[in-house]
Amino acid sequence: MCGIVGYIGKRDVAPLLLEGLQRLEYRGYDSAGVAVCGKSGLKTVKAKGRVRELDAKLPKRFAGSVGIAHTRWATHGAPNDVNAHPHLDSEGKVAVVHNGIIDNASELRAKLTADGVEFASETDSEVLAHLVGRSEAETLEEKVRHALRSIEGTYGIAVLHADFPDRIVVARNGSPVVLGIGEKEMFVSSDVAALVSHTRQVVTLDDGEMATIKADDYRTYTTEGSRTSASPTTVEWEAESYDMGGHDTYMHKEISEQADAVDRVLRGRIDDRFSTVRLGGLNLDAREARAVRRVKILGCGTSYHAGLIGAGLIESLARVPADSEPASEFRYRNPVVDPDTLYIAVSQSGETYDVLAAVQELKRKGARVLGVVNVVGSAIARETDGGVYVHAGPEVCVVSTKCFTNTVVAFALLALHLGRTRDLSVADGKRIIEGLRRLPAQISEILEREDEIERLAHEYADARSMMFIGRVRGYPVALEASLKLKEISYIHAEAYPASELKHGPLALIEPAMPTVAVVPDDDLLEKNRAALEEIKARSGRILAVAHREQEKADHTIVVPRNEVELDPILMGIPLQLLAYHTALALGRDIDKPRNLAKSVTVE
Ligand code: F6R
Repeated sequence: MCGIVGYIGKRDVAPLLLEGLQRLEYRGYDSAGVAVCGKSGLKTVKAKGRVRELDAKLPKRFAGSVGIAHTRWATHGAPNDVNAHPHLDSEGKVAVVHNGIIDNASELRAKLTADGVEFASETDSEVLAHLVGRSEAETLEEKVRHALRSIEGTYGIAVLHADFPDRIVVARNGSPVVLGIGEKEMFVSSDVAALVSHTRQVVTLDDGEMATIKADDYRTYTTEGSRTSASPTTVEWEAESYDMGGHDTYMHKEISEQADAVDRVLRGRIDDRFSTVRLGGLNLDAREARAVRRVKILGCGTSYHAGLIGAGLIESLARVPADSEPASEFRYRNPVVDPDTLYIAVSQSGETYDVLAAVQELKRKGARVLGVVNVVGSAIARETDGGVYVHAGPEVCVVSTKCFTNTVVAFALLALHLGRTRDLSVADGKRIIEGLRRLPAQISEILEREDEIERLAHEYADARSMMFIGRVRGYPVALEASLKLKEISYIHAEAYPASELKHGPLALIEPAMPTVAVVPDDDLLEKNRAALEEIKARSGRILAVAHREQEKADHTIVVPRNEVELDPILMGIPLQLLAYHTALALGRDIDKPRNLAKSVTVE
């Protein structure tokens, strides 16, 4: 979604800001803009479309060494030049970029209009520029604080003022703001991706925190004005992790990285002596782990699907009832919050609003909440009482692949840990550990079969609609594969438990609606085969993902066996490649599918 970049130092700011915006392109946006404070005051340029279109519009003379920039994802008002950020106050002295949503914008707008303010745009964000501009406070910090006092809603903001050209003031409430600490220069962004090519020393603001950045100094404080002591941490991700690395798309790069990514999530965590794992950040001692009576996992989209597989792993290895629910629904049904339930929030970005809001609701009701998160130091990682980092490295493609796989492996680790504090035997612990260790090589084996999967994708790319089926452990794999296909190929897809076919969806089966069936060699194999028979009897085409050739299927992608509990991890991987090559065959914009954004920081 929207992205913020800011710089103050000695260098020419415009190229730096544009480079930062390009690093944020993956988040999804529809317009972009930049404001620079130079000798002749504040100058802004805004453009609908891509950052390159903004670049083309920049005048030759656009010098300055302090500036802010933004990529916008339209919420209030159409995506056009006027609604793009930065927004200015009436005198053109204040420039504001804003991520988030101001809930009381129409009220504030009406009040300001009654006072004679003329609005240029239809956005909620513009009210901020006017509120800062009209404040009679002496310092920029006070002016911003004044403005924020009137605001209800979420924000990550950066403010530039022509009368205070030595500083940028930023603030955070529900939308990320990260400072990048350089040598006699400072950066700010909503995402470390825009900073890591310049500095890996960052300060992540908390909600309710503000900061002033100057070329050689920064200061953090609360919105009430008391100083806070945010000290820099080092980002572990390298700038190169954000490059395409010779692949044509980020999605392809990220699918290909999965063997290494899984190796990383396992590294240093396995404890062979006790056939268990060490999860340093869990903050759950053995007594507390044993006291857990139920596990509830909350996530959205792909992370919710990873949570479904995670719940299955926890039930089978730890024998604790567990389920996964879309976080976006959870807090609206006034959930019963049970003190003996362990709640787990799952999020790749660690910033998804729906997940964060569910965590906050749970904490307010006194629940213990853990996080399974990829981005270190993200809002969800910080709001939760402990958790497991997924260590997938940065994921740039809008649709998630390697983070999904690593999240499921992180759940396997957690399930093993919970299991070994309860009734999972040493022998079973050892069996799962050996299975986990086999995963990277088995993932590489699947990835080597890309050509075969590409050929199959061409066979099925003419489908207007596809059915995905699986049973028990295979069902979340089917759900995730169906989501992946629809997101990037725009082919309609639905997922059903194979057992549900005859209760309705069988009516859809005909040659034009192929079925992808997840058919592991587990105790449900015969039941799955019966479902394939039912489809075949209705002349449906079948592509099976299985541990051996399936007679009833038109095609089978054979994947290596692991332990039954871990099979879903491997079975999902060829289906990521199937979605990828189908979308490629249809000429889709794979890394930036229409209407979608990488990190959904608004409701
Ligand atoms: C789909 C996808 C989304 C995200 C969802 C939650 O490929 O990536 O469904 O999984 O928006 O995002 P995170 O995991 O960042 O909370």
